[in-house]
Amino acid sequence: MRLGVCLALLFSTWALARTDSNYEMNGYRLEAYKSFPIEWSLVTVRYRQDSGEFRFVYANPAALKALKMKEPFPDGAAFAKTAYFLESDPDFTSSLVPQKVSRFQLMIKDSKKHTSTNGWGYALFEPDGKVGSGDPKKITLSCHACHQIVAQKDFVFSTFLDRSVESSLNDNAVAKFVRSFVVSKPEFEDRLIADLPNSLQAHLPGKILTVRSLKGALTKSIFSGSLNEIRPLLAKEALRAYSPAALISDDKKQFTAVFRDQDHSKKCPAPQGRLSFAMVAVTAFDVNEINLSKQERETILKNDPVRIEKFCSLE
Ligand code: HEC
Repeated sequence: MRLGVCLALLFSTWALARTDSNYEMNGYRLEAYKSFPIEWSLVTVRYRQDSGEFRFVYANPAALKALKMKEPFPDGAAFAKTAYFLESDPDFTSSLVPQKVSRFQLMIKDSKKHTSTNGWGYALFEPDGKVGSGDPKKITLSCHACHQIVAQKDFVFSTFLDRSVESSLNDNAVAKFVRSFVVSKPEFEDRLIADLPNSLQAHLPGKILTVRSLKGALTKSIFSGSLNEIRPLLAKEALRAYSPAALISDDKKQFTAVFRDQDHSKKCPAPQGRLSFAMVAVTAFDVNEINLSKQERETILKNDPVRIEKFCSLE
């Protein structure tokens, strides 16, 4: 009996914890969508070189139908994305296996509710279902700012990856998949060095006159996540244009710029037949937005708030 009371108490505290706003973003809770990996369809998978994450995108039946028909998404259409960190399989170290979830993301179409984001409601959750730190309104705007790159696909990046054996026998499914990305080409413009934030100028390699700067809605609202997400795109542009490439917020307070590493101290092994380049990223972000301890925040503010990172980018 006592045990029963304890359990009831425990359960009610658990339920209470989950009803507070820490678990809700734009009216959505992960709890309510927890069956998506089983009940929705896997649309595609992606591997992100910058963060070393495996990503799985799922669609509910309404979203899947519209995606396949290449039609605008009706109200009720929903996508979910999970990202996993990878680790070497101890039984076979050259094989990487998904380990723990790094985050969950939702996009739900409700044209009456989400009027300022073209009908899409966004939600971002930590692995434990909590909404991360930062102003949810700002985060929502920055989700949508990046998704505007694919406005002509009703703001959805993923295309359906046909994994049937027939499609491979009949056609080259992979080529079809890659081609579909050419449609939405992000636009860059040349910007003079003098027009860049001072702290960025100081970290760029010498003898450079211009930087390829990403145009569009993203520059209007950036959060720290966008700066990481966009890095592979910038690396690609930097390698193509032989010039640094950057995403800079309109107020010039936040930015990330990417260019070839001059000192080549980082070794970048490449799979056979491919090239891998050593790159540098120079990033300034709003320290109030991300999850930092007070001490970490103060150290960053006291020192140069610009973060320098080296990474490898495949051609
Ligand atoms: C800087 C760009 C960028 C930002 C910011 C961004 N996304 Fe995405 N999102 C992507 C890309 C690219 C994909 C395609 C899958 C992948 O590469 O992971 C994607 C895919 C998705 C998907 C699967 C449906 C689709 O469009 O393919 C969901 C759901 C999603 N994002 C939610 C969010 C949420 C929620 C936020 C804000 C917290 C967010 N995204 C912020 C670039 C971004």
